[in-house]
Amino acid sequence: MNLNKDFSGTDLAQQTLETPLEEPARQYYFMTKCREIVKERSLEAGRELTANVTTFGCQMNAKDSEKLRGILREIGFSITDSEEADLVLYNTCTVRENANLKVYGHLGYLSNLKKKNPRMIIALCGCMMQEPDVVAKLQKSYRFVNLIFGTHNIFKFAELLYQVLEGQRIEEQMLLPKPPMIVDIWKDTDQVVEDLPADRTYSFKSGVNIMYGCNNFCTYCIVPYVRGRERSRRPEDIIREIEQLSQDGVIEVMLLGQNVNSYGKTLDEPVSFAHLLEMVEQVPGIRRIRFMTSHPKDLSDELIEVMKHSQKVCRHLHLPLQSGSSRILKRMNRRYTKEQYLDLAAKLRREIPDLSLTTDIIVGFPGETEEDFQETLDVVRQVRYDSAFTFIYSKRTGTPAAAMEDQVPEDIVKDRFQRLLALVQEISQEMSRRVEGQTLPVLVESLNDHDPSLVTGRLSNNLLVHFPGNEKLIGQMVDVHLTTCKGFYYLGEMA
Ligand code: 5AD
Ligand code: SF4
Repeated sequence: MNLNKDFSGTDLAQQTLETPLEEPARQYYFMTKCREIVKERSLEAGRELTANVTTFGCQMNAKDSEKLRGILREIGFSITDSEEADLVLYNTCTVRENANLKVYGHLGYLSNLKKKNPRMIIALCGCMMQEPDVVAKLQKSYRFVNLIFGTHNIFKFAELLYQVLEGQRIEEQMLLPKPPMIVDIWKDTDQVVEDLPADRTYSFKSGVNIMYGCNNFCTYCIVPYVRGRERSRRPEDIIREIEQLSQDGVIEVMLLGQNVNSYGKTLDEPVSFAHLLEMVEQVPGIRRIRFMTSHPKDLSDELIEVMKHSQKVCRHLHLPLQSGSSRILKRMNRRYTKEQYLDLAAKLRREIPDLSLTTDIIVGFPGETEEDFQETLDVVRQVRYDSAFTFIYSKRTGTPAAAMEDQVPEDIVKDRFQRLLALVQEISQEMSRRVEGQTLPVLVESLNDHDPSLVTGRLSNNLLVHFPGNEKLIGQMVDVHLTTCKGFYYLGEMA
């Protein structure tokens, strides 16, 4: 669906005839076309044009932003952290209402910047743009936005940007009123476009998409509506990408999917996630493998076995609980009970004792009583999470839970949230102490933000460690003696 693209009377129709139709060749064609215009503008301005990509939300969005930055760099933009740029792209999230509010807030600031730089391009993409109400509001009240696209067509960014750049050129040459807002939102796709450029944030670690979308339809969650149906990348494409990353110096990969445990089910030749992990393990040069996120209902014994015996799969599993009450879990459509979850957690703790178990918990789902909440606290006490993300339930229009009648009053939810947070933090601090005094491998990620005589890295179990060192250590795996646990992180010394 392309809502707003009227270039009649231009040479775009002619160009469409020359355009390669196969992806990704088509996009490389548009990158070249964009590059010509960006070069022209840069000569006029006497400086490089700059682009900023700001990410809201999860690791999936962070990964998408790397691809978008890669395309921008290919087109000739220099990437900047500042929003005072020639192009600003927000990659948005909509999992909770406050994520949307943040974007509207930021847009006010961008509209002021655009008054100073009228050629500035403001673009929005990501999950929030898949909501028709949001797009309608932007079209009505935020006309200074140049481009809106969704989650299914980020590979088309160069093509859409070309339309914006051409639109601006036509506007300037023909003294037309404002160029149109380009809106291109797809409802869903089974298309996975490989081999587009990416601009990686870290040289030594990288996220790798293994699947897109989600079929679970948890009743509170908007993700299946904005990210579409589950589709897996072919294992050979994933392995080829990881081999390439390894050749470029990457030693840690994070396999990304909304529900990695159901990876491969829809492929022509089905492959299990556990088997994919074994294949990734064979890639020379890769020393650590992480993955995110696992659904408890699909976590197989085969996966536990592979993790247990692996030298490379990290000692960390994120296993979202959401609620400890079987009654609420049923209303959430999670398809496991409190007892099944506890059994699984106990098995994991038994089979892989040094595993760090983390989780997501929602407080105040419609109909949650004090008894239900107590069940959640009970699971937290029994599982003893290494850490937990706690969320206040947020009503998302269009999801089944939004229409449930017994929404929990705000003051009750806030009180429960505080009690849960206190318990989670207390246990997390105790659990973090588990490795105090040990010497363990740390992958160094950066200089310490506050003290440049220290570097910061991560243990296999994902805990942060700060220790004396310099930038030469960044990207290296070193053994560190974990001297002092400071609650949720460690201070240490190189062994
Ligand atoms: N309200 C609050 N939290 C939510 N999450 C997903 N949808 C909602 C919602 N409507 C949380 C879940 C999920 C995490 C990524 O975000 O805990 O695991
Ligand atoms: Fe949302 Fe549930 Fe899918 Fe996770 S598994 S993305 S919570 S619907």
